[in-house]
Amino acid sequence: MLKLDPVLFEQVLFNLLDNAAKYAAPNSTIQICGWADGNVVLLQVMDEGPGIPSGDLERVFDSFYRVEKRDHVRAGTGLGLSICRGFVEAMGGTITAGNRTDRSGAIFTIRMPIPAKRPNQENPT
Ligand SMILES: Nc1ncnc2c1ncn2[C@@H]1O[C@H](COP(=O)(O)OP(=O)(O)OP(=O)(O)O)[C@@H](O)[C@H]1O
Ligand SMILES: [Mg+2]
Repeated sequence: MLKLDPVLFEQVLFNLLDNAAKYAAPNSTIQICGWADGNVVLLQVMDEGPGIPSGDLERVFDSFYRVEKRDHVRAGTGLGLSICRGFVEAMGGTITAGNRTDRSGAIFTIRMPIPAKRPNQENPT
């Protein structure tokens, strides 16, 4: 079972969905997929926008970093992803950015480790 803080996790999802809605075209599709792989749960949010330049995939998590510094169309402070990373890491997970290979679009991947069961949970007395 995953150990999550629901308030922090909701804020992470909100920030990712806010970005997907903001940087991709209106009425385009935003996909959310989740699955378990061994002792990790993965969650991906992907959109159909322009994606993120490869040199910025790590920097977008820096505070106040925006790819388009003078973007007056899409309001933002450049804090959303930095908050996402802080919250995900506080819950013991990781978050990374990438680009789709099937078409243009960004993909954000959250990996949350499933804590190992303690012996007394496996064999309750
Ligand atoms: N889904 C996305 N598609 C394309 N670019 C993105 C996407 N998400 C984030 N970015 C880029 O990463 C930058 C940082 O994102 P972040 O959410 O931290 O800040 P913001 O959206 O600009 O402002 P805030 O979230 O504080 O309102 C954005 O300014 C944008 O350039
Ligand atoms: Mg944002």
